[in-house]
Amino acid sequence: MRINYDHLAAEYARHRRVHPEVLKDLVAAGHIKSSSRVLEAGCGTGNYLLALRESAGCTCCGIDPSEGMLEKARSRSASARFVQGQAERLDFPPDSFDLVFSVDVIHHVRDRQAYFSEARRVLSAGGRFCTVTDSEWIIRHRRPLTAYFPETAAVELGRYPPVPDLLALLARAGFQQIEARQVEFPYLLTDAQPYRDKAFSSLHLIPEEAFKKGIAHLEQDLAQGPIASVSYYVLLWGTKCDEHEYGDVGGEDLDSLQRNAAVLRDGFPYEQFRRSTNGTVEPVASDELAKQQAEVREIESGFVPFVKAVRAAIETNSVENVMGELRREVRALKSPKAR
Ligand SMILES: C[S@@+](CC[C@H](N)C(=O)[O-])C[C@H]1O[C@@H](n2cnc3c(N)ncnc32)[C@H](O)[C@@H]1O
Repeated sequence: MRINYDHLAAEYARHRRVHPEVLKDLVAAGHIKSSSRVLEAGCGTGNYLLALRESAGCTCCGIDPSEGMLEKARSRSASARFVQGQAERLDFPPDSFDLVFSVDVIHHVRDRQAYFSEARRVLSAGGRFCTVTDSEWIIRHRRPLTAYFPETAAVELGRYPPVPDLLALLARAGFQQIEARQVEFPYLLTDAQPYRDKAFSSLHLIPEEAFKKGIAHLEQDLAQGPIASVSYYVLLWGTKCDEHEYGDVGGEDLDSLQRNAAVLRDGFPYEQFRRSTNGTVEPVASDELAKQQAEVREIESGFVPFVKAVRAAIETNSVENVMGELRREVRALKSPKAR
């Protein structure tokens, strides 16, 4: 069953707020300045886009297929442009934005590969892309949602794409410097109204009996006092680098080159997303790992010669020597005659 956001717009606008840690990471890792051009795909009622506009003064554009959600967004501020559209087909010329992002949208997008490719196309060189979503671990640990409405877990696991699949799609779309970061925001829940109003779409997807049971339980516990809650998200980042950019790589970029080298060698930087902020480690099944590594090998075969040289250095040298090889390659790229 697909959610009709035109029907949900009023409850969404009334109850859903910005996650402060997501906003912080978007500004910092998105390198947002007042001159930045930002696109939010699936902007809904404009929560994140308007908060970014307010905190950084950047130029903001939001697209969403739901006119109901867009109407709410437009009624809040005229400082951002809100237009109807789908993530899979971004109606903008290349090099239009410095940051393209979406929050809690990717599970609604039918053709995710098309979205990621479109996002990369409309970004400028060096532009950043971010998908904010829920991992399997987050879905199982949501509090109060999963704690009071456990039936939502199966529904969500069925519709949210696994994080490793999204990372592989990002790489396949041509993004580099791929990383994942989990954030959390603890708070005290004092009011059951957002849950009574079903401001969380999964509450529309569980049986009415299960919903009523969860609400009764939540209200009973709230009668004893506020409920300790925590909101998690995982941010998946990628950068649009192009061949010309390699010519500008300096000493300070060697860290990121080393990370890329590790991506090529090991598959993906699993450690970054497997370890949550509270220290829990999510295991990655070995067949899943093998699939990811096969995909990396496929992607790798199309990489620019520089990255192939890095790969060769890793295969033939000890770890200590790899950085020396990298430095030589960087120097050679900066002055090709020295090669
Ligand atoms: C859970 S809401 C998130 C809204 C907003 N990003 C926020 O966090 O407040 C999901 C939004 O995704 C939009 N959406 C659904 N399918 C989409 C698609 N194919 N492309 C872009 N947005 C889509 C919905 O209309 C809805 O506004």
